[in-house]
Formats: sequence, structure tokens, C-alpha cells
Amino acid sequence: MNITMIGTGYVGLVSGTCFAEFGFPVTCVDKVKEKIDNLKQGIIPIYEPGLEEMVKKNAEEGRLFFSDDLKDSVRKSDVIFIAVGTPTREEDGSADLQYVYAAAKEIAEALTDRYTVIVTKSTVPVGTGRKIAQIIKAANPKADFDIVSNPEFLREGSAIKDFMRPDRVVIGCETARSQAVMEELYRLLALMDIPVVYTKIETSELIKYASNTFLAMKVTFINEISDLCEKCGANVREVAKGLGLDKRIGSKFLQAGPGYGGSCFPKDTMALVQIAKEYGSPVRLAETLVDINEKRKKAMATRIISACKGSVKDKTIAILGITFKPDTDDMRAAPALDIIPVLQENGAKLKIYDPKGMKEGAKLISNVTWCDSSTEAMTDADALVILTEWNEFSSLKPESFKDIMHGRIIVDLRNVFDPVRAKEAGFDYNCIGR
Ligand SMILES: NC(=O)c1ccc[n+]([C@@H]2O[C@H](COP(=O)([O-])OP(=O)(O)OC[C@H]3O[C@@H](n4cnc5c(N)ncnc54)[C@H](O)[C@@H]3O)[C@@H](O)[C@H]2O)c1
Repeated sequence: MNITMIGTGYVGLVSGTCFAEFGFPVTCVDKVKEKIDNLKQGIIPIYEPGLEEMVKKNAEEGRLFFSDDLKDSVRKSDVIFIAVGTPTREEDGSADLQYVYAAAKEIAEALTDRYTVIVTKSTVPVGTGRKIAQIIKAANPKADFDIVSNPEFLREGSAIKDFMRPDRVVIGCETARSQAVMEELYRLLALMDIPVVYTKIETSELIKYASNTFLAMKVTFINEISDLCEKCGANVREVAKGLGLDKRIGSKFLQAGPGYGGSCFPKDTMALVQIAKEYGSPVRLAETLVDINEKRKKAMATRIISACKGSVKDKTIAILGITFKPDTDDMRAAPALDIIPVLQENGAKLKIYDPKGMKEGAKLISNVTWCDSSTEAMTDADALVILTEWNEFSSLKPESFKDIMHGRIIVDLRNVFDPVRAKEAGFDYNCIGR
């Protein structure tokens, strides 16, 4: 069974490589020729732990191919995954489907009389699968195809493990033929007793948005509880532990921080709000959490300024971490992008270090000093701000770096340091939720 994966981003490249690892011949297609040329030479466009090695292995073993010729690949395929971006539309927060529909048109033009299953892996609003079917039928009435929805739940930073050992696979498909194809694709996971849930297409599309919004809600909830902890003398870490041990709640996504970011939660929560409005069935919880989160990210800059005694003018601030979470180079909707401009408007001089995010960061952030290490960033700084909890920052010891800094202020928005130790080292230590 030949697979075409359209889009070689975080989802497409990981999914395509993992299907090759399952033993299927996979061609990963991207419209950006430079990405494809690089991939053919083993140069990976993103940072994802373990991905480079797995791409190399499967390419060498003759199962993983790269191409910028979508039509050629589609003609030879039994299954075509659409894994292109579905970013937020500035106008109203809905999902921008231009890349999905453009891919659908290209697929339609290439389809032959060979039966083909077209699968949306991208996160797409309810009803998109049916629209893709209409686009293809209109452009190529003779095409023999089925549409399937198979949303992806992997997380950047642990994407390979998440794809190879997911909690579940969700598949929206409505014909026996397409179900048989999907069963074959996910046979190895089903053999490992990983639940594969078959639903209607609309249900599958909605499961993805409902899942991400629910997780974003957990994060937003604990963030608000952390604000309350700061006022009432409770400790948010302990509250989260006590809360998460309840099996009905679970301990994941209960780490208080500067607000959720990344390429999924912000865009998917906003898109769900729009989907629900379109169907005349508003989801007010989602509307509220979008609002709370946006305000929270902005409020973090004010928190840093207050910690610096009300002014950051001409102060040198070391920022450790800018990606939206550790183990990725993804900067999309990272809290850093809300916080850094406000610090700059208020006259701060910024020295920044991130283990993997500086290449992407440099495209979005200017007039800062990029540093090669945390030590370089902290040297002579008046204050230290932690924005991402990379492991290498959690292992820093306040007593060891205090003498290289000029000031004694830490604003730890990820709670990576032990407050007692930071205070004993002489720091004015500010963290979240205690
Ligand atoms: N990033 C995640 O962690 C994650 C997790 C689950 C689901 N998703 C969803 O998966 C989808 C893809 O996300 P991503 O982060 O991988 O996006 P991405 O922006 O990293 O990658 C998209 C890729 O698609 C390519 N592309 C766009 N149009 C194309 C076309 N017509 N032909 C060929 N290539 C084309 C782009 O050049 C780009 O390389 C989104 O809908 C997203 O919401 C993402």
C-alpha cells in the first residue's frame, strides 16, 4: 500500500516517517522545494528528538521518499494524507483552510481510476471532509475515492513516541472499503491493543477540537488557581498534585505557567469558538479560556517589570527559553512573543538563549543579543527570566550563577528552581503560584 503524505511539517514528516517505520512505502511531499532538497540529503527542517535518525534509517532502507511533485506521487498512491497547516485567520480566529483546499484541488487533478483513500490528518473544522469530497468530485467526476478523517494527537517534543504508542487512534470513515484500508494502516497499533475508534467523519473532526480545548482548559484552570494561590498563601504545585491524583481528573496539563502557546492550543480553541458559533451552539467555556489565556500571556510582562522594582529601563535581562515548550524549535504563539516586545517597549536590553529555538526566534524577534549559552546570557544581567523549562535550565544552580549576574532578581515563569535554594543564594525569587 503506497502512501503520499502532503506537508512535511511537524505532523506530516513525523507521521510519514512512522508509517515508513511500520513498513509502508511513503512519499513525503512539500511545495517548498528547498525542504524537499534538504530532506533528500538527510537535513531535517524541524527539531524533533529522534526524527533525524528515523528519517535516515527509513530512507536508506528504501521505504521513505521525498518529492515536490504532488501529482506524480498521488497517481502512484493508495492512501493520501493531507497534513498541511490550518493556521488562524486573523479576521475572526477561524481555521484558514486555503492550504487544505489547494491540496485537495491538486489531488483531484491527479487522481486516476485507481481507488484512493484521502485522509485529513490536519486539524480541520467540522464539515471540511465533506467539502474536500465536493471539491474533488467537481474537479474530477470520475475519481474513485473515499474521504477519511484521522486527526493527529502527537505532541511536539515527544512526537515519535506519541505516534507509535498513542492513547488512541481516531478514524472518521463511512465506507467498508476505506475502513479496510485504515485498519491495514493501523494494524500494528491495534495488535498492541491501542484503541482505534471508528466514527462518522464529523465526529472525528470534532474529537480533535474537543480534546485540545479540554487540555487548554486544564492549563487555564490551573493558571487561574495559581493566581489565587499567590493571594491566599497556597502552593500551586501541591494543589495540582492533590488535584491530579484524583483519577477522574489526572495529573497531566496541570503545570501552572505563563499561559499556553504553540501551534495547536491557541489556534484550535479559537477555531472551536468559531465552529460552534457557525452552528449556532456557542461554547462559552472555550470563549472564556481564549480570553483568559491571551490576557495572561500579556500580563507576564507586567509581572517581570514589577519584579524589577517597577522599571526595566536600561536594565539587562537574561531570558532563558523562548520556544512554547521544551524539546522543540517551534515558536508559534509562544508566550515569549507576547512578553519580549513589552519588555523592549519599556527599555529593557535583552540577552536571550534557547537550546533549539534561536533560529526560528531570530525571524520573529529583533534588537536582542542572541547568546550561545545560559552562562553568556546571564553574565552581567540585572535579572533572569525563565520562559521555557528546558532540562538544562532546571539543572542550573542559583548559588553557582549568582556571581556572574549583576543583579539578584529571578522571574521563573516555569517554576524550575527550588524557591528556598534561590532565596538562600540571595535572589529575589518570583515564581508562579506560591
Ligand atoms: N504541530 C503539532 O504539534 C500538531 C499536532 C497535531 C495536529 N496538528 C495539525 O496538523 C496540521 C499540520 O501542522 P504542522 O505543525 O505539521 O504544520 P507545519 O506548518 O509545520 O507544516 C505544514 C507543511 O505543509 C506544507 N504545505 C502546505 N501546502 C502544501 C501543498 N499544497 N502541497 C504540499 N505541501 C504543502 C508546508 O510547506 C509545510 O511544510 C495542522 O492542521 C495542525 O493543527 C499539529
